[in-house]
Amino acid sequence: MKEKIVKRFQEIFGAGGEIRSYFAPGRVNLIGEHTDYNGGHVFPCALTIGTYAAVRRREDRKLRFYSMNFEAAGVYESDLDSLKPAREAGWTNYPKGVMWAFGQKGFQIPCGLDLMLCGNIPNGSGLSSSASVEVLTGYILKSLFGFDVTLQDIALISQYAENQYNGVNCGIMDQFAIAMGKKDHAIFLDTSDLSYEYAPIRLKEAKIVISCSNKKRGLGDSKYNERRSECEEALAQLQTVTDIRSLGELDEAQFEQYRSAIKREVCGRRAKHAVWENQRTLQAVEALKANDVERFGRLMNESHISLRDDYEVTGIELDTLVEEAWKTEGVIGSRMTGAGFGGCTVSIVKDEAVDAFIRQVGGAYREKIGYKADFYVVDIGDGPSEI
Ligand code: GLA
Repeated sequence: MKEKIVKRFQEIFGAGGEIRSYFAPGRVNLIGEHTDYNGGHVFPCALTIGTYAAVRRREDRKLRFYSMNFEAAGVYESDLDSLKPAREAGWTNYPKGVMWAFGQKGFQIPCGLDLMLCGNIPNGSGLSSSASVEVLTGYILKSLFGFDVTLQDIALISQYAENQYNGVNCGIMDQFAIAMGKKDHAIFLDTSDLSYEYAPIRLKEAKIVISCSNKKRGLGDSKYNERRSECEEALAQLQTVTDIRSLGELDEAQFEQYRSAIKREVCGRRAKHAVWENQRTLQAVEALKANDVERFGRLMNESHISLRDDYEVTGIELDTLVEEAWKTEGVIGSRMTGAGFGGCTVSIVKDEAVDAFIRQVGGAYREKIGYKADFYVVDIGDGPSEI
């Protein structure tokens, strides 16, 4: 990949100078969905697929961007002193947002850049291609200019860029999982204080399979912000009867005890999901530590049902993929992953059942939805690096 991207870099931006290359992964969340902005726990891992970059410093303050995934868009030009979000800036809003955010945090970028990207995360799949680009940009800035930031700082600055520059009120999960990724481990992260633990994923004779619905997310971002404000509304009303800072502080019984303080029925269901999903995540990590993969799988299934019925972020495409997976022999657990409203599901499938899984779920999906799903057997990889 390095040779391929450097060669294309030279074709587009010209040869000469020092060209450096980097990689940052995508991520998949195993369990703990829509808990990260509710002070709960998440359990994601970085993948070995992700985004590659080639980059070179410039003498002036210009920025030139090119993506091998969007060749038709050509070169985007802008400069360091006029960074502001714009629809016509397309994907470059992500790296630009991070450059802007570094400036906001007091790290002045001394010169312009030529930046080429090439990703192998399926587009719009919910495997965090945008967070991958953000963390990659932060890592490059640190590496090129020696900024004194940790990987965790890079995750936080990337989240700040997503919130403030790109207007998506996301939590910290994606950027954290990507920046802190560790091969063959998932990250058990408490989003209330960012304490975390690596948990080895030793799936005996089973694989992690991602099924991509190929449904574009469309209105997803605005619905995401809407879910977030419904949870905030529920929390504010719960705070009139109990002393909590976030939904993640409640267990199921406490939630049921105070639930009647929540006025709108829909906000009650959103908050219920956040509370129960957080508890499920704690139990899932325990199950994994006890080598009880079957229990882990059952908790994944329950997570999906809650996201479908209470949080309402699945839709017919994700439900079809998951419900067909549940019917398939050798499936330990299956659920939607990421924000929802399209994107992917994650399933744990016994080795010998993977081919049949892809055939059966793929066939039933095409039949019902009218277009195909894509399947990826993935491996858990490390965070960003220079390559
Ligand atoms: C998106 C957001 C994350 C998280 C998930 C849902 O991926 O970027 O912060 O909220 O949705 O769990």
